[in-house]
Amino acid sequence: MPKEEHEMRNALEMPQSAIVLHGIAARVVRRIPSLADKLVNAGDVASFVRWQSASFDETVKLFWKREELWQQMSSHLDPTRPLFVLEFGVAWGYATEHWLTMLKRADVEWHGFDRFTGLPRGWRGLPDGEFDAGGQTPAIEDSRLTWHVGDVEDTLRDVDLAAAADAQWLVLFDLDLYEPTAEAWRVLSPMLKRGDLLYFDEAIDADERRVLDEMVLPSGRYSPIGATSLALGLKVTEPPSAD
Ligand SMILES: C[S@@+](CC[C@H](N)C(=O)[O-])C[C@H]1O[C@@H](n2cnc3c(N)ncnc32)[C@H](O)[C@@H]1O
Repeated sequence: MPKEEHEMRNALEMPQSAIVLHGIAARVVRRIPSLADKLVNAGDVASFVRWQSASFDETVKLFWKREELWQQMSSHLDPTRPLFVLEFGVAWGYATEHWLTMLKRADVEWHGFDRFTGLPRGWRGLPDGEFDAGGQTPAIEDSRLTWHVGDVEDTLRDVDLAAAADAQWLVLFDLDLYEPTAEAWRVLSPMLKRGDLLYFDEAIDADERRVLDEMVLPSGRYSPIGATSLALGLKVTEPPSAD
């Protein structure tokens, strides 16, 4: 065999460790089919962690649970400025209630956006309508809170973002889908400032990741506050530029 062909074949050959690992995975899934989804998910987590290393200069601190990441994010809040929160994707209000209980201060303006009728299209094997809260807003009594019911593409424009220019912003993305997440980013990103905080609940998934890769990361600079196996918290260090 000519030398070049021999070298090319060697380059194409899988390393022994990969052959063994893949072979074990194939046999385990054949014997226990219910493990297939878990292995696929583990692969997604591995690719998410690799993406973090490629995207940030700093090591991203890992948290077991998103509540621990939220706690860490709350330590980056500036007590000398009011807090302006945009929560995209509320469902039954778990995150809203958790954050509002954690935030003891009164100078918080919280805006929660959701259709409250669930996902407008299928996502990650879930059907459209998943997370349907029956059109009802969560029963959370808190004077700091305003609900915006409907498609975020319509309702975000009802909020006077410019009026909150002096506040620190906390933006929580959990719409799951690319289209509304991208539209929310387009509308709000020109208003972001150094020190504002961003949270992506499903940064592991292709939809939110696409917004991060195509829109968020190329337009500004961010310091990672931390991640879970699914989510990512960032602090704006250089606000997104218009172009
Ligand atoms: C995963 S759930 C949110 C869960 C919530 N953040 C929590 O932690 O409990 C996703 C939500 O996004 C909402 N959603 C998806 N697309 C939307 C859109 N275009 N406009 C408004 N809400 C939308 C769905 O109605 C659903 O309630």
